[in-house]
Amino acid sequence: MSDPNTAHDATPPESLARLKSSLESRLKVLVNSGPSTPRHLREAIRHALLAPSKRVRPMMVHLVAAGQDYLHLPALDAGCAVEMVHTASLILDDLPCMDDAKVRRQRPTTHVVYGEATAILAAIALLNRAFGVIAELDDLSPGIRTQLAEQLSGAVGWEGLVSGQELDLRGGDGADPEAIERLNWLKTGVLFVAAAQMGATIRGLGPAQTEAVRTFATHLGQAFQTADDLLDVSATAAQIGKDVGQDRDKTTIVSLLGTEVARRRCREHLEHAERALAQSSLEPQPFRTLIGRYFGPLQTETP
Ligand code: IPE
Ligand code: IPE
Ligand code: MG
Ligand code: MG
Ligand code: MG
Repeated sequence: MSDPNTAHDATPPESLARLKSSLESRLKVLVNSGPSTPRHLREAIRHALLAPSKRVRPMMVHLVAAGQDYLHLPALDAGCAVEMVHTASLILDDLPCMDDAKVRRQRPTTHVVYGEATAILAAIALLNRAFGVIAELDDLSPGIRTQLAEQLSGAVGWEGLVSGQELDLRGGDGADPEAIERLNWLKTGVLFVAAAQMGATIRGLGPAQTEAVRTFATHLGQAFQTADDLLDVSATAAQIGKDVGQDRDKTTIVSLLGTEVARRRCREHLEHAERALAQSSLEPQPFRTLIGRYFGPLQTETP
């Protein structure tokens, strides 16, 4: 597994780039609202969703469901649903009452451009649309669609991301490494695992394979949030396309244990992820490329 701070492409990234651009084309189609949506709101939604970003979670859905070579429309759209939920979480995370951020995805934050009320409504609209997209996955059976909706709803709801954000803002539930990893799991890990689980459900993986994929995504989520916390103290806003120094007053692995230990823990999670990936039936190379390209440097994509 590559060092998290070193960009490393073991295979040419063309297939992943094609997958990413297909996901972005589908996002544009799926977010196309009708004439009854007020222009200000429509623009706010597009401003947040269609800004340059890594699209790691929807890529995860597609790579687990169908790999990288063949584009699978239900997997693309299920990935778009995850990306809508993630984008909604970013709009809310940036609000003045939360992290009070000014820049996101190389753009001014949604509330800075469109106002707080419209930003909140845009987040609600995206959360809501995500479940509409899942309901519209006509090529999948109603039973599979229901499972996907359950998986995504569980991840974003009060047993997942929402609780993670609440704990993050209220100082967590303790200042020891285990408490921080629980927080990271809720804030970030649950959505990574939901993305992987949704891919596994679409692919029809059995219980043992699904468990290996979930373990892979669990460690990836921890590595990702730890790497993000490292960037918060070490990168510039221009490099990562969002505010830095946001979590100065928060308890993170970095603030608790320092950057060296945080880097080591990040590497260890990536090694655990690699072991779980090797135990799954999935072709590992696209995931390795994804990790090298998007997790290591955690750079925001340029358009
Ligand atoms: C940011 O997520 C929030 C975290 C969980 C660290 P990403 O780093 O995936 O942001 P985008 O989607 O590329 O903008
Ligand atoms: C990420 O936490 C969690 C969610 C947005 C759900 P951060 O607050 O660290 O994310 P960034 O750094 O603002 O992207
Ligand atoms: Mg935050
Ligand atoms: Mg933040
Ligand atoms: Mg952060």
